[in-house]
Amino acid sequence: MNGKTRNQPELSQRQHQILKLLQAGKVNKEVAQELGIGLGTVKQHLVAIFKKLNVSNRAMAVSHGMEMLHEQESRESVLPMADLLECRPCVVLSIALPEDASQLATKLMYGSLAAMASANDAVFLARNGNAGDVIFGIQRVTEYDLAIAVQTARAVYDDLQAMDAGIAGTLRGCMTAGVAFASMKRFGGWTGEAIASVAIATARELLNDVQPGQFAFDPTALDLIELFGIGGMQQVSPTMRLPELKNLHWTGSRRAYHLVGRDDELGQLYAALTEAAKGHGKLFVVEGEMGMGKSRLCDAIAKLCLKHEGDVSFCRSLPSVLGNCLYDTVKGVECSVEQAAVSLRAEPVRFPDLVVVDDFHLLTQDQQILLSAAGAEAVGKGKLVIFSGRRGIRENAARQTGTNAFGMISLRRLSAHSVQVLVRDALGKGAIDGRASKVQRIASAAAGVPLFAVGLARHHDAEQLALPLRVAITARLDSLHLDHHLLREVAKNAVGTSLAEAAANLGEDAAALCNQVEHAIAAGVLAYSADGWLSFTHPLLRRAIGNLAME
Ligand SMILES: Nc1ncnc2c1ncn2[C@@H]1O[C@H](COP(=O)(O)OP(=O)(O)O)[C@@H](O)[C@H]1O
Ligand SMILES: [Mg+2]
Repeated sequence: MNGKTRNQPELSQRQHQILKLLQAGKVNKEVAQELGIGLGTVKQHLVAIFKKLNVSNRAMAVSHGMEMLHEQESRESVLPMADLLECRPCVVLSIALPEDASQLATKLMYGSLAAMASANDAVFLARNGNAGDVIFGIQRVTEYDLAIAVQTARAVYDDLQAMDAGIAGTLRGCMTAGVAFASMKRFGGWTGEAIASVAIATARELLNDVQPGQFAFDPTALDLIELFGIGGMQQVSPTMRLPELKNLHWTGSRRAYHLVGRDDELGQLYAALTEAAKGHGKLFVVEGEMGMGKSRLCDAIAKLCLKHEGDVSFCRSLPSVLGNCLYDTVKGVECSVEQAAVSLRAEPVRFPDLVVVDDFHLLTQDQQILLSAAGAEAVGKGKLVIFSGRRGIRENAARQTGTNAFGMISLRRLSAHSVQVLVRDALGKGAIDGRASKVQRIASAAAGVPLFAVGLARHHDAEQLALPLRVAITARLDSLHLDHHLLREVAKNAVGTSLAEAAANLGEDAAALCNQVEHAIAAGVLAYSADGWLSFTHPLLRRAIGNLAME
């Protein structure tokens, strides 16, 4: 569906008002109260609005309404040039105590919600009826926002528990995910003004059905969890008891598909494993952008090691907001980086002895150096050590081990053929109709990135870019602090634009804009084609930034 080809619907003033309230996350009851009309009347208006907008539910009505605004803004620049209305993936946590809860308990709940929100750059909204929402992803998106939301719910529960176990037992909460339209600054970050999201209303509605002491995840949240990995020893289920949340960890492990197109890389690691079986150790650094298959590759070598009756330790690094420690995926417990260094230095139990530290880039500089030094010692004792993470982790490893003393594997995009095989695997038994053309289309949109292939296949019927993919892309872009005006401008045309044209459209000096272009090129987001056109290095980046529908 293309928004531009729809006829612009004429909403009455009242209908417009109601749409605005829906966009602000109000439920029917609140809309009725606010406008001083009956619940039945609100419902009648809703039916009329859906009909005019040609949609079938409120979620679509809200997003369609926002889309109209978004498109209009792209065309006419309604907001001052400094701000941009952006479509951002967000995670919403909704928490409530019973209406008759003591003031002390409510104050404590609001206090811990607000503290967690501000520590994590999230937006906190207090609500009537002893309830509150925290929205993650407006200021900045990360792939572990879900895990932080879970941790926030846990913190509120723990704080109440410390005060009075009885009251903690009456707390209830839930989590949803969706997109939000928010006014953003040119180089990222929320301006603090406009924000509208149907996910907020969804969370509030879901919360109504949650029993005291329980926590619920809606299907979109579960979908994100599936792609980004939360769980561990205890698996996430749609409804859990609040105290059980403490057993959930950010595992970062995604669903494993049959490994394709990494024969060379796995071959290198396998050769090292054979050596390690004889007690000859080696350190490897596996580097690649998010979703290139680092964890998948490490998984494959770990399986091979187990098959050879070796010893495997597989740890995932956690970011500072989640405690800056490691999660031991074999034992299902967290451990400190210091503890991990001690076990790296310990004598091997048996050969081959494999130690993997995944998402190494999330550790602090000091932690990386500590583990690298311990890793070098482990290699001396005959272990095979793999540090895996995003670009730039090799420097710390090099400093501690001496350059070239370690193997380097850089994961690049998969071949078109491998991606097609992966897409077929991920589609599974779904998408029978027009399967061949679907595989082609998805594979070409994924352009060599396995995570994109998997994500697109899982949502092969979606008109819009699926939420998990938006999270992946936005998280990467947010970490780069690029010029959003420039990106938006480049996203307008599929073929790209020239620097002069972009500068003219933005009303800026080409020389000044040139710096921003170079920055975006260095970050791997934009590139010049042979004939001088500036465009995105990956088609999904353009789609996410332009908020464009799937083809
Ligand atoms: N070579 C591959 N063959 C099959 N599936 C892959 C491959 N590389 C990645 N995947 C799948 O793509 C998704 C993302 O890969 P992952 O290893 O989590 O990426 P990274 O750790 O680099 O962020 C996972 O579902 C993974 O199973
Ligand atoms: Mg990974």
